[in-house]
Amino acid sequence: MIKIGVLGAGSMGAGIAQVASTAGHKVVLFDTNEKALQVADAKLIKILARLVEKGRIDQKKSDAIHSNIELATSMQAFSECGLIIEAIIENLDIKKSVFKSLEEITTKDCILATNTSSLSVTSIAASCQYSERIIGIHFFNPAPLMPLVEIIPAIQTSQETTSKAKSIIDSWGKKTVLAKDTPGFIVNRVARPFYGEALRIYEEGIADFATIDWAMTALGGFRMGPFTLMDYIGNDVNYIVTETVFAAFYYDPRYKPSLTQKRHSEAGWLGRKSGRGYFDYSENANNPMPVEDNEVGTMILNRILMMLINEAADALFLNIASRDDIDLAMTKGVNYPKGLLQWADEVGLRHVVNFLDVMYQEYKEDRYRCSPLLRRMAKAGKKFY
Ligand SMILES: NC(=O)c1ccc[n+]([C@@H]2O[C@H](COP(=O)([O-])OP(=O)(O)OC[C@H]3O[C@@H](n4cnc5c(N)ncnc54)[C@H](O)[C@@H]3O)[C@@H](O)[C@H]2O)c1
Repeated sequence: MIKIGVLGAGSMGAGIAQVASTAGHKVVLFDTNEKALQVADAKLIKILARLVEKGRIDQKKSDAIHSNIELATSMQAFSECGLIIEAIIENLDIKKSVFKSLEEITTKDCILATNTSSLSVTSIAASCQYSERIIGIHFFNPAPLMPLVEIIPAIQTSQETTSKAKSIIDSWGKKTVLAKDTPGFIVNRVARPFYGEALRIYEEGIADFATIDWAMTALGGFRMGPFTLMDYIGNDVNYIVTETVFAAFYYDPRYKPSLTQKRHSEAGWLGRKSGRGYFDYSENANNPMPVEDNEVGTMILNRILMMLINEAADALFLNIASRDDIDLAMTKGVNYPKGLLQWADEVGLRHVVNFLDVMYQEYKEDRYRCSPLLRRMAKAGKKFY
């Protein structure tokens, strides 16, 4: 079994190290900040104790998972690794310089992967001499619990690197999907309207946060409403992802960020972590109850759902990923109750196209333009499945 290197012992790095070590690999976990390594180790000990307590693993397995992970303060410890996954700060220049250094330490056949959420894997690969072995391996937070991993070959990545990386991550029990190296890959691209359209509905005064969340959970079957989810992710983090995706798509109005979210972020109303976001998380909080009006609720659900379906269809249209991978990504990466393309078939493609056309006619905003693929398929009476 190859040795795995993990660079960065923050929330993602520590989780990825745990996953690899649970799969039986020897793991080297490196961070420039020694304290981060100690924190990651203490967290892992706690998590493992809880797993033993719950009977998920026995003490022997827990000891093995812990002892498989070597904490390192020098990158030289990566020299014998067959795969290194980088999970450091989301900064292109820093990542590029780290990949350059990694290349000097490792053998030529070691796969060098980045866990970046929003940067171009291709531009990271460009910092390396042997760029064919650079790839994106994008885990979701928390890595040990979330089953989805996006595999993103850069345009320089070899087929061999892609299939090797995929088979290693598959062997860890994860569901892998293949995505083109484009902003947001699959999940962070297709999910944008879940937040953006919900915010827009609020801004238009159609409903408050609680009512929009109620429509999406009670009527749509989503596990969390958009505002509860944004509060969970953090408005600062979610806003920056939206802004990055918007800029990376050359300011396509479909991905336009929301001033409501920006103001929440500026006010420090970040969500759960700050005690207040769209909702109040203090002890005796008195949050408003949703207005459970089915007509309004259905309109809210339809508006967000049609925008999500449009985004999924457009990702397929532009060959970002396959039909099956797009649906798998949204069900396994963000727990959607159904794949969006399957959902499109169920509500009927004609209906989706009509809905979007009515929105477009009313608003005359490019944000509501229907994907050519949806229109083409609806015209031909086709379905995705
Ligand atoms: N947090 C998420 O939900 C999430 C999900 C998927 C992907 N990601 C991506 O994963 C990466 C890490 O995110 P995170 O949330 O774990 O960050 P984090 O801030 O929790 O951890 C980053 C760690 O990297 C270390 N670090 C910084 N520069 C370093 C360097 N040059 N060498 C070694 N270590 C260095 C820091 O000390 C810190 O411990 C980012 O690229 C992020 O976009 C994050």
